[in-house]
Amino acid sequence: MSEVYICRCEEVTEEDIERALQNGATTADEVKRFTRAGMGLCQGRTCRKSVERIIAQRTGKEIKDITPSNYRYPVRTVKMSAFEEEMDNSEKEEQICKHGED
Ligand code: FES
Repeated sequence: MSEVYICRCEEVTEEDIERALQNGATTADEVKRFTRAGMGLCQGRTCRKSVERIIAQRTGKEIKDITPSNYRYPVRTVKMSAFEEEMDNSEKEEQICKHGED
C-alpha cells in the first residue's frame, strides 16, 4: 500500500486511517481519536474531507451520511498590548459618558 499522507499536520497516512477502520472505528470522530487526523494545527481544514471520503469508501456509505468530526477553531496567542488600545478607547468613552451626565 502506498504511503499517502492524508493529514499533513499529524502525519497520518491513508494506511493509518484504514487500520483505524479495521480496528473498529466507524465515524470520523473515532478515526480522529485512533489516528489524530484532524487534530493538527489546521484543525482538519486540509484533511477532514479526505478522511470522510476514505470512511465513505471503506464503509460503503455516501459522504453526506458521514458525520463530520468535531473541531476546535485554531487559537493564536495574543499579546496583552493588543488590548491596550481597546482599553484606552473604552476609558475615553467612559470619560465622555461621565462628562455627558454632568
Ligand atoms: S492536515 Fe490534518 S489537521 Fe491539518
